[in-house]
Amino acid sequence: MGSGRHIYRANSLAPHQKMMAEKTKAFLKASEEARKNPAPEELEIDESLGKLAKGGVLFAQNCSACHAKDTKVVGPPIVEMVSIYKNDPAALKQWIKKPGKKRADAPQMPTLGNLTDADRDELAKYILSIK
Ligand code: HEC
Repeated sequence: MGSGRHIYRANSLAPHQKMMAEKTKAFLKASEEARKNPAPEELEIDESLGKLAKGGVLFAQNCSACHAKDTKVVGPPIVEMVSIYKNDPAALKQWIKKPGKKRADAPQMPTLGNLTDADRDELAKYILSIK
């Protein structure tokens, strides 16, 4: 306790700890927002999506806090989901139902308990339509 070495170590760790605390805070905020699930009328429905519109709305409500089309936000981009699941919508739906833990550089995806099987069908259709 109190040796020069200790103090040096504590100081050199501080910025990292601060960064991790901020990242954790951002993640918790995104999780909370995703769980709040805003009412559909607050969202603009992209009518050009036609049959995919419902999945698009569900995605905007439940997923877009952490996922974008081409860039990593908290989780991987949609294009990466498509490359993994393009031939396996059932596995995609299973992940959404019960997310796993894969990537070392990402936190665990939260389970979104408000979604029904029908919602996951629409979500999978929407996601896999994206190029
Ligand atoms: C609070 C943030 C958050 C929300 C909300 C969220 N995800 Fe994720 N998602 C993640 C993270 C983080 C990962 C990476 C987890 C890992 O690799 O361990 C991930 C990974 C994924 C993957 C990749 C699976 C794989 O096999 O690699 C898919 C697909 C996915 N999410 C779909 C969705 C869908 C669909 C929704 C909405 C219904 C959603 N996510 C909502 C954070 C989130």
